[in-house]
Amino acid sequence: MSVHKEIKRITTRTLQEFKQQGIKISMLTAYDFSMAKIIDSAGMDVILVGDSASNVMAGHETTLPITLEQMIYHASSVVRGVERALVVVDLPFGYYQGNSRLALESAIRIMKEAGAHAVKLEGGSEIRESIERILTAGIPVMGHLGLTPQSIYKFGTYTVRAKEDVEARKLIEDAILLEKTGCFAIVLEKIPAHLATEVAKKVQIPVIGIGAGGGVDGQVLVSHDMLGITKEFKPRFLRRYLNLFDEVQSAVKQYVDDVKSTNFPNNEEQY
Ligand code: KIV
Repeated sequence: MSVHKEIKRITTRTLQEFKQQGIKISMLTAYDFSMAKIIDSAGMDVILVGDSASNVMAGHETTLPITLEQMIYHASSVVRGVERALVVVDLPFGYYQGNSRLALESAIRIMKEAGAHAVKLEGGSEIRESIERILTAGIPVMGHLGLTPQSIYKFGTYTVRAKEDVEARKLIEDAILLEKTGCFAIVLEKIPAHLATEVAKKVQIPVIGIGAGGGVDGQVLVSHDMLGITKEFKPRFLRRYLNLFDEVQSAVKQYVDDVKSTNFPNNEEQY
């Protein structure tokens, strides 16, 4: 940990070195300035401005409704709170699929207007052209395979992906393709641990898992889930480090009681 703190700024190159040295990569989502500042100061390597903002910040059922403008708003807030971590931003649904020109324009807006360091895109061979075009502008790209929530209506369910041979083979091929195309890292979401381990061994770039077991090069979670701000979402892979929903609720209840009972403010809390 102290070795990590000595690093002034995490870059895509640092992550590559971590993989080579067998140092695990920590990654967590953030969507606003204050939380980004806390997470960054705790020594996080990568902060992801995930399109999960659509769920946990805006209350949508899926990640599909969030817009590029909203992602830029979240990302610029996060970037202002971060000194050390690499800030990666999700390209939202509808801004890169089947349109590499739009993909490049969207990625450039995220880098220019938010000051982000890299973008993340969901998918394999079907979005190769978009990835290639973004890379021509010198923008680092992180891939995302396995359960890709922007395709939820194609899958129809959030259950574990690539359990069958055909899908597992396609996932391995896609991971190799993403590496060849020039992605600097890949997120693998909700796939069998043995498959994720195989992918992490097959590619030289870092593989970061969420619900993909411990055989990969790093782990990512949604901050609202690991802090227990969300309550209903309880997948097996999630470890809750706090129950913030309950803690914040009880503090707020206490405040309401104090106001009603005139216990707040007291003599020291006024001018
Ligand atoms: O949007 C997000 O938070 C993500 C993570 C689940 C990896 O993509």
